[in-house]
Amino acid sequence: MEDAEQYLFKIVIIGDSAVGKSNLLSRYARNEFNLHSKATIGVEFQTQSMEIDGKEVKSQIWDTAGQERFRAVTSAYYRGAVGALVVYDISRRTTFDSVPRWLQELNTHSDTAVAKMLVGNKCDLEDIRDISVDEGKSLAEAEGLFFIETSALDCTNVKKAFEIVIREIY
Ligand code: GTP
Ligand code: MG
Repeated sequence: MEDAEQYLFKIVIIGDSAVGKSNLLSRYARNEFNLHSKATIGVEFQTQSMEIDGKEVKSQIWDTAGQERFRAVTSAYYRGAVGALVVYDISRRTTFDSVPRWLQELNTHSDTAVAKMLVGNKCDLEDIRDISVDEGKSLAEAEGLFFIETSALDCTNVKKAFEIVIREIY
């Protein structure tokens, strides 16, 4: 590939409402966190660059509503995506139980091979943890995903979560 050519990878973030998708994106793209963020309506995205092997790699990261009634056209959201972060909240079991459903939707709508990362967010909430690290790992292994725990609040592993996926695509 020519030096002048740019890589632009589409990455989608999915998972139940309030697991922290929008805050993971704002933490990664702008180093911002919002304790009182509102539920996303429709779709938002951010473009973010990182350097791999001396090359600038750009990603367009898409964030949508976890709530069905606020979601935009599903097929358009997934079209062309080469990476996905499937997020649950380590303090809320229902969000973990939803992961297979999100994976199924992703598989149904994606048109290419997708690098997938299972993300257990809010790992700062150790006191009220409901899903153990081992449980997260097991699910990821069974479904063939990478696995990481993150905290958009205290920054743990946020950059790493995105960059592992981007490196895998690259
Ligand atoms: P939808 O847009 O409705 O799908 O929700 P979302 O997944 O985008 O969740 P959002 O980022 O809006 O975060 C929901 C709530 O969780 C907000 O009050 C955030 O401040 C909080 N939150 C997000 N990430 C973390 C985290 O890592 N730790 C803690 N303690 N709270 C978090
Ligand atoms: Mg959101």
